[in-house]
Amino acid sequence: MSHLLAPSLLAADFANLQRDVEMVNASEAHWFHLDVMDGVFVPNISFGMPVISAIAKHAAKPLDVHLMIVDPDRYISTFAGLGAHVLTVHLEACTHVHRTLGAIREAGMKAGIALNPHTSVELLRDVALDIDLVCLMSVNPGFGGQSFIERTFQKTRQLKAMLREEGSDALIEIDGGVGMANALQLVEAGADVLVAGSSVFGASDPMAAARDLVHLEPANSR
Ligand code: DX5
Ligand code: ZN
Repeated sequence: MSHLLAPSLLAADFANLQRDVEMVNASEAHWFHLDVMDGVFVPNISFGMPVISAIAKHAAKPLDVHLMIVDPDRYISTFAGLGAHVLTVHLEACTHVHRTLGAIREAGMKAGIALNPHTSVELLRDVALDIDLVCLMSVNPGFGGQSFIERTFQKTRQLKAMLREEGSDALIEIDGGVGMANALQLVEAGADVLVAGSSVFGASDPMAAARDLVHLEPANSR
């Protein structure tokens, strides 16, 4: 399978959100990545339901919602109602992960689980078949524009092997510091979905940046 690109709207211009949503619609990117932060699980507050509702009115591609919040179970039905396609919660924010993943699927969404850089992929082995997507954080969650943590390459390979052993076809998503310098290597390591904030919206030509991150030819990598 070729990989998917999910631009993170955290790096969009919030005063021109519709313009930036339309840019993603017109681009070769596949999903919208929406980062919800509560100022408790992570040291930053981003946006919540009203903004996602506004984005959903214009978005023509699936919404990949990444919850960086404590007690995400409280909001599962709310995000289903907002039209989330994938709902990703953090393993570190859940006490009963199996129950939470089941509730997300029950609500009609793909169940995603995110791991902070320090969290071992082995902690997902016993729920591997209950997961549709694993989001490996390649930065400490909370902010866009941070440096990619190199250990993520090895972690991606470990996760890929573990999922295969367990018979899971969950997608592997990489989030944080992704750009042309590491994208091809991540896909070769087993990544299925690349999240990209700054490397798309911070580019002089975001459409071209998205195209380059979709068509990762060895000769094209910088
Ligand atoms: C970080 C968020 C990321 C962020 C990525 O906590 O989960 O999705 O927007 O931004 P870049 O691509 O700029 O690192
Ligand atoms: Zn994210």
